[in-house]
Amino acid sequence: MAAVRIEDVVGDFVSLRKQGQDFVGICPFHDDKNPSLHVSPRLGIYKCFVCDAAGNPVKFLMEHEKMSYPEAIEYLAKKYGIPLEYERTESDEERQQRSLRESLLIVNEFAEKFFMDQLRNTDEGRLMGMTYLKERGFADATIDKFRLGYSPDNWDSFTKAALEKGYKEEYLLELGLTGKAQSGKLYDIYRGRVIFPIHNDAGKVIGFGGRVLKKDGKDPRKYVNSRENTIYHKSDTLYGIYFAKNAIHKQQNVYLVEGYTDVISMHESGVENVVASSGTSLTQGQIRMITKRTQNITVLYDGDMAGIKASMRGIDMLLEQGLKIRVCLLPDGEDPDSFAKKHRDSELQDYLANESKDFLLFKADILSKDAGNDPIKRASMVNEILKSISCVKDNIERAFYIKECAKLFDLSENDLNLNLRRFVWEKTKEQSRTVQQQTQQQGQGQTGAPMPDGPQQSDVPDLIDTQKHQDIAPQTDLLYEAEKELVLLVLNYGNYLVYEDDGAQREGLRVDQYVCNEMMKEDLRFHYPLLEKIFNMYAGWASYIGNQDQIIRNFTLSDDPQVSEFVIRHIPVEPRFSEHWQKKYDIHTHTTRNNIRILQNQVQNILLTFKLRILENDAAIISKVLENKELAEEDLGLALQQLNKINQLKRIISQRLNRVVSR
Ligand code: CTP
Ligand code: MN
Repeated sequence: MAAVRIEDVVGDFVSLRKQGQDFVGICPFHDDKNPSLHVSPRLGIYKCFVCDAAGNPVKFLMEHEKMSYPEAIEYLAKKYGIPLEYERTESDEERQQRSLRESLLIVNEFAEKFFMDQLRNTDEGRLMGMTYLKERGFADATIDKFRLGYSPDNWDSFTKAALEKGYKEEYLLELGLTGKAQSGKLYDIYRGRVIFPIHNDAGKVIGFGGRVLKKDGKDPRKYVNSRENTIYHKSDTLYGIYFAKNAIHKQQNVYLVEGYTDVISMHESGVENVVASSGTSLTQGQIRMITKRTQNITVLYDGDMAGIKASMRGIDMLLEQGLKIRVCLLPDGEDPDSFAKKHRDSELQDYLANESKDFLLFKADILSKDAGNDPIKRASMVNEILKSISCVKDNIERAFYIKECAKLFDLSENDLNLNLRRFVWEKTKEQSRTVQQQTQQQGQGQTGAPMPDGPQQSDVPDLIDTQKHQDIAPQTDLLYEAEKELVLLVLNYGNYLVYEDDGAQREGLRVDQYVCNEMMKEDLRFHYPLLEKIFNMYAGWASYIGNQDQIIRNFTLSDDPQVSEFVIRHIPVEPRFSEHWQKKYDIHTHTTRNNIRILQNQVQNILLTFKLRILENDAAIISKVLENKELAEEDLGLALQQLNKINQLKRIISQRLNRVVSR
């Protein structure tokens, strides 16, 4: 895929203007007025400076054209005349699986068309299905948009039509469109129901929901839904995601509702960033579908308190994913569907805007009313809230919640903080345990978010082996930041030359080599697996790829999405020594002698900071061990010595850092 040119691919959909080495255009992922989209042929990526759209050619096609990964690859292959050889890369089993998936999707597509046609073009469909939908107030355009349909109320019209077309019985059964009676007779599962096709985020029909029309019918189920099969996994499906994608991206928020009709009615009222979990609480898979588009979610609840309290428990999970959750409470007895029907579009939109509240404060508020003045109830409620707060990753945000809770419950912030710390510790322990388990199972520790929770190792082989106590290491953003800086340093400046010391002119050393040397000498190791992986990949390439841009392009095309996303996210689109880096590191555009000196100082600065953070981390671990464990007097002495030594080193490094910085 080296032939692929990002400016061509984006240029097919967005008009681009040349600006320096790059191209700029109106960003298609948000309501853009100025050309915020930058396309860099040098790096092979696009990046918007306003919304956070960014990626390589494949990602652009997937996001903009809603293609699946294979579709995007196929598109590029066609565009550039690159032969695609599935046979060679796919095993037989994979190929079979792919062709099964494709066949099933084709059958579903046929079914969707069949049901759509029945609804619109048959007497029964119009009389039963269309009348029902019209009574519920759905407009023609909406019915078309969501591709609603109708399945006739007799034994097997659909199944017959499908078999006649040559679709295999086995597929119809697998998809749950057709059932088999004990007599062996085939029948339509969805007979006599209006059909809500369920689309994946590329717009393919992966399943169906069918709603009964009459209440008195023999079948008491209000909805029949596709059962799990090769292409339909309920836990990875959000109803409406295909129709909501662009709006979610633009609004940077998504509304979560319960049902099909809620999604559809909100669309009719002009709110398109809405998806339904289809009556269950969110799964990890569904959360991932959301977090990849936005960090903000607003849950729409109807006013029924019992339901609210029940569903609250599931929400801590969302907080842990770093999502910002808000809650919008609808008036008692209303769901989004009924509320949207009763109010003008602008009223619904105003209501959503004005009534959405921060989830944690909402929860605290409700629980505090519930507990009244009963001290025991209040204590357990405060703990429940602290538990939720401990799920919030961001320190500043956590502090904000503590402040609010202190006000709400009339408690001191210090007391709350003390208890909070306990929950945070418990959580880190739990997580590091599961990370360890996963690591053992998978052999390799590439799991979870790009910023794992705790350091992994240490380099002080003294009395207390800090490496063994990673579970109690504090979550330190500082250590992560230091490691990130180091990685970004080699990515951006790895090929620049530095000189080992300021004395006589000596032969220069590449920055990346210098960094590697120093890390070896001092046995400095990474604590965050993703950063370590990127650093190692870089080191592997740097030894034989001379061109820095080529290395970056390799990263942006990496198969590992965590890797490519990290690099795309953090690499400046403008050439290095850009304004961004100039500001940050005070580097000027030309590599004069002076700039080399500045870069050199920065390299040292970054390495020293890294070292300092490791020491801080070790010190924290040792203090914690001393707190928790009764040590024999002799050992205690040794441990204190170890701590002293670390503190001394810390002081020395801090001094050196100050010198470097102030020079
Ligand atoms: N649901 C289901 N099976 C049921 C009831 C509900 O699968 N027997 C799921 C459906 O996905 C439904 C969602 O839960 O959309 C919410 O349920 P409900 O509010 O009862 O259905 P609505 O979609 O709102 O339908 P209606 O407005 O016609 O009541
Ligand atoms: Mn409903």
